[in-house]
Amino acid sequence: MSPRLGPVLVTGGAGFIGCGLSQVLAADAERWVVLDNLHPQVHPVAERPAALHAAAELVRGDVTSTADLDAVMADIRPEVVIHLAAETGTAQSLDESTRHSLVNVVGTTQVLDALTRVGHVPSHVVLTSSRAVYGEGQWQRPDGTVFHPGLRTHAQLESGRWDHEGGTAQPHHAATTVPAPVNVYGATKLAQEHILSAWTGSRDTALTALRLQNVYGPGQSLTNPYTGIVSLFSQLAMRGQSIPLYEDGDITRDFVYIDDVVSAIATAVANPPQQMRLVDVGSGQPSTIRQLAETIAAFHSAPAPHVTGQFRDGDVRHASCVLDEQLVALGWKPQSSLAEGVAALQGWIREQLSAR
Ligand SMILES: NC(=O)c1ccc[n+]([C@@H]2O[C@H](COP(=O)([O-])OP(=O)(O)OC[C@H]3O[C@@H](n4cnc5c(N)ncnc54)[C@H](O)[C@@H]3O)[C@@H](O)[C@H]2O)c1
Repeated sequence: MSPRLGPVLVTGGAGFIGCGLSQVLAADAERWVVLDNLHPQVHPVAERPAALHAAAELVRGDVTSTADLDAVMADIRPEVVIHLAAETGTAQSLDESTRHSLVNVVGTTQVLDALTRVGHVPSHVVLTSSRAVYGEGQWQRPDGTVFHPGLRTHAQLESGRWDHEGGTAQPHHAATTVPAPVNVYGATKLAQEHILSAWTGSRDTALTALRLQNVYGPGQSLTNPYTGIVSLFSQLAMRGQSIPLYEDGDITRDFVYIDDVVSAIATAVANPPQQMRLVDVGSGQPSTIRQLAETIAAFHSAPAPHVTGQFRDGDVRHASCVLDEQLVALGWKPQSSLAEGVAALQGWIREQLSAR
């Protein structure tokens, strides 16, 4: 039987989402080549992750390196490029903005230049963008008019004024919410979208940019202190500790389970658009971090979470999205509730900790 997919290049494909995706797609591809530098912040041991599908060919290399990319392109003419490689620390990106920009922005242009050098245009480029491009998103006043609040300043957060005044946050919707990032990470993800849309548009090829909400689940790094609030809360509760809640505990996020994200990306890969397609990927269900913490604490019979009033510059107050109509039309629907996803994650974390 011939493979369903031609050769696929997955940058950053040895990470959380890349490993999950490999389990679903790698065996169906003519080749599934992963270019990943096994970043020490994500991979405490620089070894091939056990969760990467056996059919995946792992090339250790950096998306910012011309030589590494040229070596990959000499070996594969990808029909599809899935661009996952990124620096992903939201708060960290304000302190290490060059590092984030180099990998996320220049790393993207480097991939494109390497394709140009070998004279190859993939038939579909898939980017995992982020809800971080929206910043504080769109809000609605009581009279129905909408506004886009700017970022919450350090002084505002220090005085405990957590919420924007005069309205309520609306769920993100790629067709209508104007992007306005409030941290460097979000700005680099928006830059990736713009760069890829210019390049794919001028090469008459297809681009899908998926704006992911907060992804969680088995496979997420347990040691990266900059990402993965669900894993972090789970480990605290597992140790019988009370989970600390930033601000007043009422920050909202859309926590979307890894399998639902993988199936959204697989759906996009199987159904390339004519030109550019922007999609939101979330559960469609906003939760406060208090609700998340209480769900996890109850699972472990840990003490109740407590509000600390701490905050992080660059965090947004509310983020969630509508279920994307384009993905839904293609048959995609999130399958896991937060309670189900949290339960599955606890079992996986226990296995990982006992294997250490
Ligand atoms: N996990 C989330 O909640 C979330 C939300 C929105 C968007 N995203 C996006 O999804 C993508 C994948 O995220 P993830 O959660 O799997 O992150 P991850 O950190 O688990 O995986 C990223 C992978 O990229 C690799 N990498 C980092 N820098 C690299 C470089 N210079 N060259 C080559 N490889 C490099 C890392 O080693 C890692 O394996 C990223 O683009 C991220 O911005 C993730």
